[in-house]
Amino acid sequence: MSLRIAVVKGDGIGPEVIPEAQKILEHFLTDADFFEVELGLARWEKTGSACSPEDIRELKGADAILFGAVTTLPDPNYRSVLLQIRHELDLYANLRPIKSGEVDIMVVRENTEGLYSGIEEVGEERSTTLRVVTKAGSKRIAEKACSLILERNRNHPLVIGYKGNVLKSDLLFRDTCSEVASSFGIQTKAVFIDALCLDVLQHPKKYDVIVTTNMFGDILSDVCGYLTGGLGMLPSANIGDKHAFFEPVHGSAPDIAGKGTANPVAAIRSAAMMLEYFGMKGEADFVEESIQSVIRSGFLTPDLGGSASTAEFGSRVYESLSKK
Ligand code: NAI
Ligand code: MG
Repeated sequence: MSLRIAVVKGDGIGPEVIPEAQKILEHFLTDADFFEVELGLARWEKTGSACSPEDIRELKGADAILFGAVTTLPDPNYRSVLLQIRHELDLYANLRPIKSGEVDIMVVRENTEGLYSGIEEVGEERSTTLRVVTKAGSKRIAEKACSLILERNRNHPLVIGYKGNVLKSDLLFRDTCSEVASSFGIQTKAVFIDALCLDVLQHPKKYDVIVTTNMFGDILSDVCGYLTGGLGMLPSANIGDKHAFFEPVHGSAPDIAGKGTANPVAAIRSAAMMLEYFGMKGEADFVEESIQSVIRSGFLTPDLGGSASTAEFGSRVYESLSKK
C-alpha cells in the first residue's frame, strides 16, 4: 500500500512555504498519495468551523501529516486547531531540533498537558488555566527523550527543564523523568527553565537532549531559534504512538504573508523529519545538505539578509537535490 500524506497549508505564510516542502516529499515518496485538508482561520471564516470531526478523521487516516501554520484568534470561543489535533491524535512528543554549526540540540516538549491543558475558566475579574502534570504523561515523554539520547549517542546527560521551586506540579515531572532516565542508565541534570533559557544561548554546545513541559518547551524552542538564524529555520515533529505530524515551529506570520518572501527552510526541514520518520535518514540528510549548500552560496530570503523569494529559494534547494 502506498503512503497517504495529508497536507494542511493553513493560513498566512502556510500556503507559501508548504508547496516547497511538498515538492521535496514528492521527489522521494514517488508512490505516495498526497491529499489536502483545509483547516484554520480562513476555513472558519468561510464555514464557521476551523476543524471539524470529519477533518480529524481524515487526518487520522493519513500515515503522516505535513502542516503549515494556522492563525489562532485570541477569542475565548475560538478553539485552537493545533491543540485540538494534538489531543485528538495524541501527539504527545513535540521534537524540535536546533542545529547550526556545532550546535545540535533536541528540545523534547510534552505536547498534551501542562499549561496547555485547555482546562480554563475565563471571567471578567479572574481567569484561570489549569496546569496538569501526570505521571503517565511525564513517563512517556521521558521515555521518548531517553531513546533519543541513546540514538544520538553523544554521551551527554538528559537535561530536564523545570521550575519546581515555584510549581509543585513540576516536581512530579522532574522525579518521573529522573526515574525513567535511571532505568535507561542515563544521567540527568535538572535545570530551572528561566536559567536554562539564558544558558542555552551562552553555552549551546554543551546541550544535547532537553526534556520539558508543554509551555516551557514552546518558549525554549523559540529562544533557541536565535541560535539558528530565526524562526524561519526551525522544524518540528509531533509524534504519538499512532500518528505523526510535521510542521515548522513558526506561525502564520501575518506581517509578511502574501509577499512571497517567507523562509521555507523550516517547512522543508519538517518534510525532512518526515522522511526520517519513514526510515529515510539518508534522504533526509540530502535535503539538509541541499539547504546548506544553497545558504552557503549566499542565496537567502529576507529574514536572513537576502532578497530571494520563497519560491526561488525552494527551487534552488530542489535543483540541488535533484542533482544528487
Ligand atoms: P509567527 O511565528 O507567525 O511570527 C513571528 C515573527 O517571525 C514574525 O515577525 C514573522 O514575520 C517571523 N517569521 C515567522 N516565520 C517566518 C518565516 N518562515 N520566514 C520569515 N520570517 C518568519 O508568530 P506570531 O506572530 O506570534 O503569530 C502569528 C499567528 O500565528 C498567530 O495567529 C498565532 O496564533 C499563530 N501561530 C501558529 C502556529 C502554528 O500554526 N504552529 C505557531 C505559532 C503561532
Ligand atoms: Mg511557539
